Amino acid sequence: MTKLAVLTSGGDASGMNAAIRAVVRASIYEGMEVYGVMQGFQGLIEGNLKKMSLGSVADIIHRGGTILQTSRSSAFTTENGRQQALANLRSLGIDNVVIIGGNGSLAGGYEFSKLGINVIGIPASIDNDIVFTNAIGFDTAVNTVLEAINRIRDTATSHGRVFIIEVMGHNCGELALASGVAGGAESILIPEIEPDIDMVVDKLNQGHKRGKLHSIIIVAEGVYPVMDLRDVIKEKTGQEVRVTILGHVQRGGTPTAQDRILASSFGKAAIDFIAAGTRNVMVACYASKIHAVPLTEIIHGHKTPGLEMFEIARILSI
Ligand code: F6P
Repeated sequence: MTKLAVLTSGGDASGMNAAIRAVVRASIYEGMEVYGVMQGFQGLIEGNLKKMSLGSVADIIHRGGTILQTSRSSAFTTENGRQQALANLRSLGIDNVVIIGGNGSLAGGYEFSKLGINVIGIPASIDNDIVFTNAIGFDTAVNTVLEAINRIRDTATSHGRVFIIEVMGHNCGELALASGVAGGAESILIPEIEPDIDMVVDKLNQGHKRGKLHSIIIVAEGVYPVMDLRDVIKEKTGQEVRVTILGHVQRGGTPTAQDRILASSFGKAAIDFIAAGTRNVMVACYASKIHAVPLTEIIHGHKTPGLEMFEIARILSI
């Protein structure tokens, strides 16, 4: 009988539960035996696995976070840690692991696959920094940021203030760019483009002259210290500026329909790939279809957000 384990790893992303549900239900449908690993790679090392049933994933499709919990395991980056994890899987006769997570987790999965285990990756990260595909959790995070922008816009207009909003994204500007375009931000600062603070200031001054009631500046984390940016803008425009750092609020919440559908399709596809004997791939969605991309191509890839989107934002935010 085919046996597999499923785990979530790295930063949680809304829709992970929908993916776990899909993996568990599709594998049982195919007559496979499926185990859930608690706390990601750490639980794999500690042998924290439990057999899953149809009922163990009931009532979770709409919940954020992950019922399997997650971790960023430093022990799994060592050969010893991975050997221990392998021994735990072998003792249960498990040959396949489905890893739901972001770039770091998929890279860990790739290293693990070198020990002979079949690793199937499912991309999940609010950063959306995984090549070839959209990741589970991104759409929900974009909508959460958007909701925050809408709310901040109300108070910004009422007071006639400039707001700087810092969003997550690790080293990738996808979340900042998507939410900034959808939220009609005046300026968007992302890691892929050198920040031009003079341009930000010019825009604010011109907008002010035209009688603009507020301005929103979206800054991806790590691109520019937001408190310093506030001081520069205050000094060069004379406008009142406030800063909001959204933080982990971006990671939680009920997943959007889009994330639930993506997660359900990815989970089912992961099991189809295992059933077909496909080894060491990540499930990806591009050109409106599900594909299997070798893990080697994932870990060596580098995603750059569509810069045409940046151009759209620049022109429309004048
Ligand atoms: O990768 C997801 C992410 O939320 C990044 O956007 C952020 O930089 C990081 O995780 C935060 O990690 P932690 O929750 O460990 O502080």
